This record gives sequence, structure tokens and C-alpha cells, in this order.
Amino acid sequence: MGEQTLTAGRKAAVFDAYGTLFDVHSAVQRHAEAVGPDAARLSEAWRSKQLEYSWVLALMGRYRSFWSLTEAALDHALALHPGVDRALRERLLDAYRDLDAYPEVPAALRALQARGIRTAILSNGNAEMLERAVSSAGLSGCLDAVLSVDAAKTFKTAPAAYRIALDRFGIGAHEVLFCSSNRWDIAGAAAFGFATAWVNRKSLPDEYADLPPTAVIGSLDALV
Ligand code: LAC
Repeated sequence: MGEQTLTAGRKAAVFDAYGTLFDVHSAVQRHAEAVGPDAARLSEAWRSKQLEYSWVLALMGRYRSFWSLTEAALDHALALHPGVDRALRERLLDAYRDLDAYPEVPAALRALQARGIRTAILSNGNAEMLERAVSSAGLSGCLDAVLSVDAAKTFKTAPAAYRIALDRFGIGAHEVLFCSSNRWDIAGAAAFGFATAWVNRKSLPDEYADLPPTAVIGSLDALV
């Protein structure tokens, strides 16, 4: 599917943040030498626990900031990997505050804006962590909105989380192209009624067969 078909009739392109615009593994990678041979496993455990905590809380009808889940997940990941120096905790959290954006992101967002499509983040991240990540990655000028699920006090894949984007722009679900590298997030967005682009950066096998993406792309370059 070409970019014209994917974005035709869309008023907004809404992006997941972590994993989609920002490389969540860049935090550990930045300190890979100090972390040692468990670096990749530590980073995977950090990310998967962070997500698990968000889903478990949402199912319980409870809410805590995504930053606090990020801290708790790192603590658990460090406990799982006792060979990693715990003194790195603060450095790793600092690196997570200022994650690298994937290189094609700024130009892709600007190109969408130039075509009259509004650009936004819709993330589980709380507003403070998102603002810092957006500004340190130099993305402030190419996003029309930075939306946090904090406004709904729940996490994706709860429908109330996706609805935040519609309320912000006053548009219908079919007018949104929702883009995420996280297949679970694409499933949630598809169930909500968004058109979706799964940014399958790592060529992962498909899942959630009953909730397919509208399109699968390798990077945001495919949108421009
Ligand atoms: C986000 C995370 C969960 O919502 O990827 O940005």
C-alpha cells in the first residue's frame, strides 16, 4: 500500500512514542560497556516489565505514572541480573529521560505536516516524561500535540486511552492513522477503530491475527 492510500482522507497521524519514535533500548546501549554482558537481556526485561505493569494496573482499574512504572521495572530488571552494577540505576534512568529518536522521525513528521496532516504522540508516558523526550530529541516543532494517557488515568489498550486523540482533534476514528511499532498497541488501536500502520522495524512475526494492521511498514519513511 502506497503512502497516498494510507494517509488519504486522514486528518491526523498519531504515533506511539516508546519503541516507535524513540528507541527504548538506546538507554542501556549508551551504557552498554558499563552494564556488561547482560546489557541486551537487562534492556528487554526493563521494557517488558514496564509494559506488564501498565496492563496489570489497567485491568485492576488502577493508575500510576508511567515514569514510576519505568523505575519499578528497572529495579526488577536489575534484581533479575545481579551481575549488573546497581550503581548504574540513576545513569540508566537519566538515559531513558533523553532517549534517541529513530533517525527518520523528524523529516517524516515534517513531511506529514506539509501535506496538512496533523501529527501527534499518544503514549502511555506521562506528560512530563514525554515533554522531556520530545524536546531532547528535537521533535517539538514537528508535533501538533503530545498526548498522554494520563488524561484518562488508564493505559493502552483501554479504549479510553485511544479516545484522547479524537477528543483533542475533534475528528472520527477513521480519520486517524495510528502508527506503532508495538503489535499489541496496533491491535488495541484497530479494535478502537483507527486505521493503523504497524512500524515493524525488526521484521517480527505477526500476531493478533483477528486485529490486523491496515498496513505494515518498515520505518516512518514509508509514510512520506
Ligand atoms: C507508549 C509505549 C507503551 O505508549 O510504547 O509510548
